[in-house]
Amino acid sequence: MGKSNSIFRTKSIEELLNNSKSEKGGLKKSLGAFELTMMGIGAVIGTGIFVLTGVAAANYAGPALVLSFIVSGMTCAFAALCYAELSVMMPVAGSAYTYGYVGLGEIWAWIIGWDLILEYTVTVATVTVGWSAYVVQILQAIGINIPAAFSNPLGLNGGIINLPCIFILAIIIAFLIKGVSQSAKLNDVLVIIKLGVVILFIVLASGHIKPINWHPFFPYGVNGVFKGAAIIFFAYVGFDAIATAAEEVKNPQKDLPIGIICSLLICTLLYILVSGILTGVLPYYVYKNTAAPVAFALQKIGISWGSALVSVGALCGLTSVLLVMCFGGTRILFSLSRDGLLPKIFSDINPKYGTPVKSTILIGIVAMVLSGFLQVGRLAEMTNIGTLIAFIIVSLSVIILRKKRPDLERKFKCPGVPVTPIIAVVFCSILVFSLPTFTKIVFVIWLGIGFSIYFIYGRKHSTMNNG
Ligand code: ALA
Repeated sequence: MGKSNSIFRTKSIEELLNNSKSEKGGLKKSLGAFELTMMGIGAVIGTGIFVLTGVAAANYAGPALVLSFIVSGMTCAFAALCYAELSVMMPVAGSAYTYGYVGLGEIWAWIIGWDLILEYTVTVATVTVGWSAYVVQILQAIGINIPAAFSNPLGLNGGIINLPCIFILAIIIAFLIKGVSQSAKLNDVLVIIKLGVVILFIVLASGHIKPINWHPFFPYGVNGVFKGAAIIFFAYVGFDAIATAAEEVKNPQKDLPIGIICSLLICTLLYILVSGILTGVLPYYVYKNTAAPVAFALQKIGISWGSALVSVGALCGLTSVLLVMCFGGTRILFSLSRDGLLPKIFSDINPKYGTPVKSTILIGIVAMVLSGFLQVGRLAEMTNIGTLIAFIIVSLSVIILRKKRPDLERKFKCPGVPVTPIIAVVFCSILVFSLPTFTKIVFVIWLGIGFSIYFIYGRKHSTMNNG
């Protein structure tokens, strides 16, 4: 195994664990099951529910959006069980990238790492744009107007730079540099506020449901359910970021499965309730042009104070998504660099803070450029394809490793192997095919760039060459 020149060379788990343990000045271990669950919810509940639900109901699924959420949630649940098994076996920072290295070989690992960089960076950029829109709206409501030139990207509505994007990313970067436990504390506060707001919506709006709004239930047919599921899949993206924190967890065997599974369960339940209520209180088609469906619904049923509160809660929600997804991106960059597939500079740990400062700054700057200056309209779908491909590779890795290394201790075992991972692969593939063609083409281009970097740089500098 291992030290050949083949692009399919694999790392052994033993080597992987030894490397991460023996590393001096490595990442600090400061997270427990509670922080991980909060991190998962922090990364998950955001744009998907506060922004995308309305448009997805109006344009793709109608009231059957609730089924879209169930389909996407189930897909994630099967993948989450696979993530849980592998993250406990390999509690190191690279998440799916590392599992690919052990299970499938270097080239696959690189593809997945490259793909995860896309997932995390693009998510951060997309959510930052949503954050800026919410801030501009809230400031407007209290009489403060940010000029269009400073609240839009270059060339859109007379925009030069989207300043709120730069502002929030600078704060997020500062927190992440400062340390994981500070960031986790900020995340806890944000998550409590956003959960409060989502529950408030459920309580306030459920009394206003008119079942007639759920008829017809399938205005776009069953196909619409899958199209809707592929789009709102974005709402679930992020629970996998928990696995990128594995190296910073105090007791990974116990805490990682709890964190991954609990956060996914809580979010799925809330999504089902919120989407059912949204389409129950108003006809699905009224959400066609709203980027803030939850606040909009409360406004329409006459609860304006609730609507204002929801906007502030949504802002907190989006901030926590930024925090965790930015964190995840830096840890992937860190792992690729530590393995030599990207320049070493990105795996430097700052001795004062115990965090990878340089990779944090890089992810932050790329997200600033994407969100502050460019029009990133359809990028959310890029996140979906990136994440779905990662889920497929993780699920396949579970099957392969069970065959290749049955001897390894599995403190958490994904139930029903190989059926569970196979279902995950099938569901993820259906969602990939339900995504727009444009998304698939851009993704293939991104992979092409990735392959070039691997053959020009990564293959020559991989630490696997040193054996
Ligand atoms: N799931 C995250 C969101 O919906 C990425 O914003």
